[in-house]
Amino acid sequence: MSPSRTKEELVVTPIKHAPEKKCSMGAIITGLDLNDISDEELEQLRAATHKYQVVVIKNQHNLDPVKHWDLVTRLDPTAPNVHGHGTVKQFQKTGGLLSKRDVHGIPTAPNVRLIGKGYQGDDHFGIKNFTAYGASNDYHATPPSKEAFAAGNTQFQRWHMDAPLYEREPPHFTALRCVKAPVGPEITINWDDGTGLSMKTKPGLTAFFSNVQLYDLLSEEEKEMAENSWVEYAPFPYMWIENCKGNANGLGLVTQGKEHTMEEMPEWNPDFVKTYPMVWNTADGRKALQVHGIAVRKLFIKATPTSSVEVVDDVVKIRAFLHNWQSRIHKPEYILMAPVEEGDVGMWDNWSVFHSAVDYPDAYGVRSMHQANLGASDAPVGPRPIGVL
Ligand SMILES: [Fe+2]
Repeated sequence: MSPSRTKEELVVTPIKHAPEKKCSMGAIITGLDLNDISDEELEQLRAATHKYQVVVIKNQHNLDPVKHWDLVTRLDPTAPNVHGHGTVKQFQKTGGLLSKRDVHGIPTAPNVRLIGKGYQGDDHFGIKNFTAYGASNDYHATPPSKEAFAAGNTQFQRWHMDAPLYEREPPHFTALRCVKAPVGPEITINWDDGTGLSMKTKPGLTAFFSNVQLYDLLSEEEKEMAENSWVEYAPFPYMWIENCKGNANGLGLVTQGKEHTMEEMPEWNPDFVKTYPMVWNTADGRKALQVHGIAVRKLFIKATPTSSVEVVDDVVKIRAFLHNWQSRIHKPEYILMAPVEEGDVGMWDNWSVFHSAVDYPDAYGVRSMHQANLGASDAPVGPRPIGVL
């Protein structure tokens, strides 16, 4: 740090939501330079991200990708020093559904991944002449028509947490920097699921809902059941579902029988298969209903601590069970479109929220994002121990 530099004070300002919103998260952070962040500021940022779940760190135009990666490693210093989805090579081999888009690491910091849409320029931080193919509506079984999409009608792409759900643990935080944002007019996100729900927003933003708030929306009996139940994820989960299509509202998959059979899967290590509680304790003592529905292979439902365990391994039943709960928060009033502008870094508590990209017409402009997250040093823990069958 230059001795002449006077540090600004880090200020956390909660986002003021419109009156019709029931959103409980989000804050704007100013006075922070991620190229030069002290240990004290790091702890302030960690605490703010846990409290507000999604934060927008303003004015990081000159962020060095090496410092971007440093940020996530400093937040979890004993974790293996690699992106949550492993190296780009590993990701391309076993990333299945997720690796259908062409993902590049920034040459100076390969764990920082370039994602976005459109031509990224002759030389984007050392990546030459690359055209990104973004989180597209072609993931959906019933995408908007070509004409509707051209007119700005779109869908949530895929509600998820950033998590490999095999071998490595889910990152505690994702830090997503906006290098370039589209400039087009507003888009309309349609649920297209028979509910008639829709919302308007700027293009290029990431959508969030809180799984802490979702837990709070459950009845007392459902909370009890959720706390006593657990989930087993598929081995190489994104390969398992690589041929599947998403629901139009972005929440869960359409059941078309396209999951691979276990016999079709590459050999997997049973020790790497993840079993997590349905409810995760958050760092600040709350509870999040954190179940990544598209990757679940088995549910273990237990209504009370003394109940017997019902094992559900039929994807139709798994999806219906989770949809019943998760759809309660999947409404415009609970959804935050994080107000990230060019130069900002959006960061979130990946253990307590779900997020989704939203596709927009090409003509609205290029989107360039740098994404960094680190497979955690620890596994999520729930309020009750996972039962033994
Ligand atoms: Fe993500």
